[in-house]
Amino acid sequence: MPSSPSSASGQTGRPIGMAGVIGTGSMGRGIAQVLAEAGVVVRLADANPGAAEAARGFIADMLARKIAKGQCDEAHRVATLDRLVIVRAEPEAFAGVDLVVEAIVEALDVKRRLFSGLEPAVGPDCILASNTSSLSVTAIAAGCAVPERVAGFHFFNPVPVMKIVEVVAGARTAPWVTAALTALAGRTGHRAANVADSPGFLVNHAGRGFGVEALRILQDGVARPVDIDRIMRDAAGFRMGPFELFDLVGLDVSQPVMESIYNQFFQEPRFRPSPIGRNRMESGLLGRKTGAGFYVYENGRARIEPDPEPDPRAGAAVDAPIWVGPAADPRWRGEVQTLVAQAGLQVDAGARPQPSSIALLLPLGQDCTGAALAHDVDPRRAMALDPMFGVGRRLTLMTSPATDPALAEGMAVRLSTGDVAVTRIRDSVGFVAQRITAQIINVGCEIAQMRIAAPCDIDPAVEMGLGYPTGPLALGDRLGPLHVLTVLEGLFGATGDPRYRPSPWLSRRARLGLSLTHDEA
Ligand code: NAI
Repeated sequence: MPSSPSSASGQTGRPIGMAGVIGTGSMGRGIAQVLAEAGVVVRLADANPGAAEAARGFIADMLARKIAKGQCDEAHRVATLDRLVIVRAEPEAFAGVDLVVEAIVEALDVKRRLFSGLEPAVGPDCILASNTSSLSVTAIAAGCAVPERVAGFHFFNPVPVMKIVEVVAGARTAPWVTAALTALAGRTGHRAANVADSPGFLVNHAGRGFGVEALRILQDGVARPVDIDRIMRDAAGFRMGPFELFDLVGLDVSQPVMESIYNQFFQEPRFRPSPIGRNRMESGLLGRKTGAGFYVYENGRARIEPDPEPDPRAGAAVDAPIWVGPAADPRWRGEVQTLVAQAGLQVDAGARPQPSSIALLLPLGQDCTGAALAHDVDPRRAMALDPMFGVGRRLTLMTSPATDPALAEGMAVRLSTGDVAVTRIRDSVGFVAQRITAQIINVGCEIAQMRIAAPCDIDPAVEMGLGYPTGPLALGDRLGPLHVLTVLEGLFGATGDPRYRPSPWLSRRARLGLSLTHDEA
């Protein structure tokens, strides 16, 4: 990016001192607040009479709250409010501003009309930025005489709290425009992620792995929503499970976004939504807002069945020593042997199991069936434990169709001691957490591979925008790129579904022993 960017008129882009915000709903008022707090004079307009005044009043309240919390003083509040000037929603009202940010209704034709109407009224150096979250910035710009001045400036809700903004370059956006928006983001205290215009930009694109794969696991009959959520929270460390998130956002919002991104990528199999989502949306099981989604809500709280109470009598079925299978990481075997011993069970530490032993397998890229056959153990006396996330608060115990159900129940009871809970699932390459995290990492790698965003922007944007414990590339590095590759190759091999084909970004770095954040010169 040039250090002294040149504008469309050949002049050097100047720091933004005066801006317009059009559309003062939940996003526009937040954008106006952070700009005004950063010292920018903001002209506020909304087509709805009284809406801009209401937004200014809302911002005044927000600033009063900040004072109460000791985050700013009265002088800051007064100066910020002085910078918020309400104008009529007419192009002429924006003459002389350096930037207009629109946060109006999410409709391509309306946004195009707004920008093309503004063009004759504002100067040649005025940037036209859209806060769109789902429309193509290139398509919005195509309605303008000077599409080079148009970019995406995609904030997250609530704007003052979510300190990340995507600066989106359309196909014809000039570098001085993105440079000026990136500099402005820095002044508001937001981390700018520079993104090439593509469906879902960076953050909503990166978010495809989580919910879409969770629905696929449900569709495959592997585990129930409550189990998938528990595993993702307690074993994989996510703040919220995918089905809790679906219920929070509402399937009326999530399902159309899943379908839209899938179709905008011309049916990319990685993003293929599940018919389960559409069925539930059409049946009105939208989530919290309708009182029922994947969970039922009473007084706004989800009614979640507790973990099943282990029946100590079931533990008696575990009547033989436990042979823990070899693992991709030798430390996993030791950890699980220790767990087994701590559960008061006898460990069969042989290279091969005794004929009477029960096999506890630790597969990577294999299901329980495949692992039992590969290790030539009795499938009725074999089950699998997900080793990838360590022995923490929750273990995932997977069985094959041949596993003796009483033995599986007994093992779940014996291993759920103290602070460790056990969730039982049916057979699947990648269990639950391996599958979902592998897809999150794979999608993140593809974003880097396609140069939609640089590796240095991907992780912070995903952490801040989606609230994941770590970004996809750092997550892949933590779990081991080769391990993630093994999971994806196993899923691809077992299902033949190209949704699991590994990204070349992941595959090359895994095989070369490089970090997933490693960029090419
Ligand atoms: P909102 O419905 O709260 O506010 C939109 C405002 O724009 C309303 O006050 C409306 O009167 C005004 N408006 C509509 N058409 C107009 C026009 N032609 N001229 C002037 N004013 C007009 O909507 P919200 O949620 O603030 O979203 C605004 C934009 O931000 C949309 O493009 C949306 O996709 C995007 N966005 C929304 C996010 C969210 O979480 N709500 C997150 C990121 C982006």
